[in-house]
Amino acid sequence: MTVGLTTKMLAAGTVATTEAARCLADGGLVAFPTETVYGLGADATHPEAIARLYQAKGRPSFNPLIAHVADLAAAERVARFDATARRLAEAFWPGPLTLVLPKTLDCPVAALATAGLDTVAVRVPAHPVARDLLRQLGHPIVAPSANRSGHVSPTAAAHVASDLAGRIDLIIDGGPVSVGVESTIVGCFATPLLLRPGGTPRADIERVLGHTLARMPTPTSPAQDGQPLAPGMLASHYAPRTKVRLNADRLEPGEALLAFGPTLIAGSESAAATLNLSARGDVIEAAANLFSHLRTLDLAKARAIAVMPVPDDGLGEAINDRLRRAAVPQD
Ligand code: TXA
Ligand code: MG
Repeated sequence: MTVGLTTKMLAAGTVATTEAARCLADGGLVAFPTETVYGLGADATHPEAIARLYQAKGRPSFNPLIAHVADLAAAERVARFDATARRLAEAFWPGPLTLVLPKTLDCPVAALATAGLDTVAVRVPAHPVARDLLRQLGHPIVAPSANRSGHVSPTAAAHVASDLAGRIDLIIDGGPVSVGVESTIVGCFATPLLLRPGGTPRADIERVLGHTLARMPTPTSPAQDGQPLAPGMLASHYAPRTKVRLNADRLEPGEALLAFGPTLIAGSESAAATLNLSARGDVIEAAANLFSHLRTLDLAKARAIAVMPVPDDGLGEAINDRLRRAAVPQD
């Protein structure tokens, strides 16, 4: 039972990395910074640790995890790369790209972490703390975002603590993350598929592939969840408790405003609270602010969070994907 643990918080550094690696090897759960969002790590070869991880997150166990590895050589022990996959790995790793690939025959990642699929999601993170931890542990680390299942992803150590204190062993505080949305996920099937837009813009991937990337449609109803290709693409996800209203062109009474760009919409003078994703209209800055602004506005007890339109280019595609999921009604 993970509930009732004392959760330690350590500032990033060699002491924290050493303690975290020992904790993971012993089957513990450690939250650590990556460049995208904070991850909740377990040793990928330790089935019991992975079971505790699902329990700590309250995550449906059909939802498979990403195996984080130190470099391409380590990734090749986990998954089989064809020429296209290798080209993507060489172009974007370390960085915010996850590849879904066939497992190797002797894949060290426990079956529980891949939810029984014969594919595995792998990524080499760019954050120095994540990389040091992977090198010191010497095993892949499976890590979903370090939030309770269905909540907004954490972009700072305090977000992790507010969701998971008492349920995990250790949090490494490496300050706020730089990217702010999760990795882009590409399924390396006969035709590569964009399974989740994220921190690596689609256009950059298409440039390396030399062709356009087909997109798995975003599910809009719970009935569409659990599709074999992307079992984790739950319709309602990344969700604050307050209702989210998209593409607002005027603010209704009692609403909080999540703004984008220099010009606010009509009615914004009376907002319950206002935060701007990027006053200068920059999607990169907006991605970095997205989840923490949603968390803050959720505390305003407003009738709804009205969100101004965000352009779909670059990281805008990932931002709009997360906003659409945040706006799906919760039960
Ligand atoms: O940036 C990120 O990717 C962060 C950091 C911590 O690395 N991690 C993250 O993990 O976002 P998580 O568990 O929140 O999202 C992983 C997604 C899920 O939607 C899951 O269903 C999908 O990856 N996934 C994992 N294995 C898969 C597989 N074999 N086939 C298809 N989708 C898979
Ligand atoms: Mg997540």
